[in-house]
Amino acid sequence: RTVYYKVDPVNPDRGVLTAAAQLLRQGGLVAFPTETVYGLGANGLDARAVAGIFRAKGRPADNPLILHIDAPGQLAQLAAAVPASARALIDRYWPGPLSVVVQRQPQVPDAVTGGLDTVAVRLPDSLIARELIRLAGVPVAAPSANTSGRPSPTTARAVETDLAGRIDAIIDAGPCEIGVESTVVDCTTPVPTLLRPGGITYEMLLAVLGAVEIDPALAGSPAVPRSPGMKYTHYAPAAPLFLIETGPQHTAVLLLREITRALAAGKTVGAIVSAETAPVLPAPVITAVYGPQGGAGVIAANLYNALRSFDHKGVDVIYAEGIAEQGLGLAVMNRLRKASGYRIIRE
Ligand code: TXA
Ligand code: MG
Repeated sequence: RTVYYKVDPVNPDRGVLTAAAQLLRQGGLVAFPTETVYGLGANGLDARAVAGIFRAKGRPADNPLILHIDAPGQLAQLAAAVPASARALIDRYWPGPLSVVVQRQPQVPDAVTGGLDTVAVRLPDSLIARELIRLAGVPVAAPSANTSGRPSPTTARAVETDLAGRIDAIIDAGPCEIGVESTVVDCTTPVPTLLRPGGITYEMLLAVLGAVEIDPALAGSPAVPRSPGMKYTHYAPAAPLFLIETGPQHTAVLLLREITRALAAGKTVGAIVSAETAPVLPAPVITAVYGPQGGAGVIAANLYNALRSFDHKGVDVIYAEGIAEQGLGLAVMNRLRKASGYRIIRE
């Protein structure tokens, strides 16, 4: 049985957080909100509890987890060394949607790192997340609280859809602000490497670091992932998704051409598009609007809900309108490419 707690995001009930922290200390699994997406938490120093996360999500064991802490000083207990690049990023962007990959201390269980000698650590900005971690008194291992391969949950109801009955508790504090996961930066390389674009943008990393390498796997092909999580199917809605990736002038034209063909073939078609494009789509298309063109922040916040919105509508195929890769647009396009399984339509 999964206990469902509803709390106020600004004035959370302390009794609820205390009970949830108690569950974590006892080895239980608790889904909780962060500013990025909902996380599925377990005591990050308890290998058995961490194994429960992998079981509940159906997650491959070699895909490592992020450890969440509630104060920057706790990094020293998890990291064997904190490189200058990590220090600079932390000083500027913690608490916030940034995970740093550093050499791990021996006390970090193999179950967390998938056997790697590095560990990813994040100090979230969400008040509830930080209070929960503080009350638990341990680093909290937390992947996104979805079934492996599905879009990440940005609401507690999405967590419930995927994991009800498989975890001990869900804390519902409303929708997540940012809507895509944290930025993951490998700080063990001579030039820090962006492994996953997220809430802290590439431009924001550059402003602090001067130089950032981009993992080749982000270039748009699924080849040779450095972040183990990048080799698996991710963020996928139930129906196959095709991503239209062209300049802004051509996207609507190409989208219409593909949709017209699919409709002519008798398919039930879904489309995830901007507010500007939605009105030009033919009537039978089931449309999810992700936000205004150029509004990458709004689009990021709505993206996963939009992807999940097709799940029970019987669509045969979904077409997604690509956006520019500036700011949060880089994270949005990364998630859409992966959701499409790299079924990308270019001119
Ligand atoms: O915003 C977030 O980061 C959310 C919330 C709950 O904090 N968590 C999250 O966790 O997205 P998850 O497990 O869904 O994604 C973790 C990513 C994966 O791509 C994983 O491969 C990578 O971080 N990662 C974790 N540890 C790593 C390591 N030691 N080296 C390289 N990549 C690592
Ligand atoms: Mg995830």
